[in-house]
Amino acid sequence: MKKIMLTGFRPTGKLHLGHLHGNIKNMIKYQDDYENYFFLVDWHALSTEYQNPKDIKSNLIECVVDLIALGIDPDKTNIYRQSDIIEIAELFLYLSMITPLSWLERCPTYKEQIKQMKSRDLSTLGFLSYPVLMAADILIVNADIVPVGEDQLPHLEMTREIARRFNNLYGKYFKEPAELLSEATRVVGIDGRKMSKSYNNAIFLSDDEMTIKKKIRQMITDPERIHPTDPGHPEVCNVFSFYKIYDRENIQEIEARCKKGFIGCTACKDQLWPLIFKSLEEFQEKRRQLLRNIDYIYEILEKGKKTVRTVARAEINEVRKKMGID
Ligand code: TRP
Repeated sequence: MKKIMLTGFRPTGKLHLGHLHGNIKNMIKYQDDYENYFFLVDWHALSTEYQNPKDIKSNLIECVVDLIALGIDPDKTNIYRQSDIIEIAELFLYLSMITPLSWLERCPTYKEQIKQMKSRDLSTLGFLSYPVLMAADILIVNADIVPVGEDQLPHLEMTREIARRFNNLYGKYFKEPAELLSEATRVVGIDGRKMSKSYNNAIFLSDDEMTIKKKIRQMITDPERIHPTDPGHPEVCNVFSFYKIYDRENIQEIEARCKKGFIGCTACKDQLWPLIFKSLEEFQEKRRQLLRNIDYIYEILEKGKKTVRTVARAEINEVRKKMGID
């Protein structure tokens, strides 16, 4: 029997390179090795967007299109909407009974986001319990391995703690899921900060050739380099960090030509953006095709819902027995 790999994704609309090189790449790479679950977390989105939820659904559909166009294969991976699996909500309720408040209050992502997202009122029960809902997402199929970005590690740790506590209280049932980090856990945006839609610094997977060129041309490079012949410092250069992803084979040569001042930053950028665009061409064509047949996307979500609910219901029955309310 294959082990179970699962990941969740916030339906944020169009995907960018930061998403691709995060957990998505691992889900594609190991698709044949595991039994796979890939779902869009619209309930988690509500925990921060509840004041203005109108885009969540259209964003979600757009995400599914992108994921399939990238190579997540619906025949190998269950693709579904979190809110379609009501058993997750039930499991969340049970887990909330055994999760100490102090674990949630000291969660680093909780404190950080409250500070960062000043424009929203996040002093809600739903937002505080974000990691418990994530634990329910994972434990509802008893996943073995969870591809995530670095920022999600505290949540995964809490999932293991909750699983352990459940097992101690009611007898061993849940596995403790392991994380799978991607190689490029932090892709930078054109301004050098972490790539993010909300920072307005993202290169989207659907950007056309000229847009990609323009964005790469805007990228901040080594600030100490004034003239094209000045020796450069690739280790601090964002363009170089992209070469590590897009031209790994020639990376030593690229590093050397910069350090020796053999190539200026603009010329260096002009060799990079065609590589990025080429890597996206096939995806963009597939995306256009999928957009012409949105019914197919809904069918996939329907199929995912059916399969996953069957698994989830069996799981809930066991949990109910263990907790004495069957
Ligand atoms: N919290 C994750 C994020 O913001 C998304 C997520 C929700 C998730 N449930 C999950 C990821 C379960 C992995 C497993 O990226």
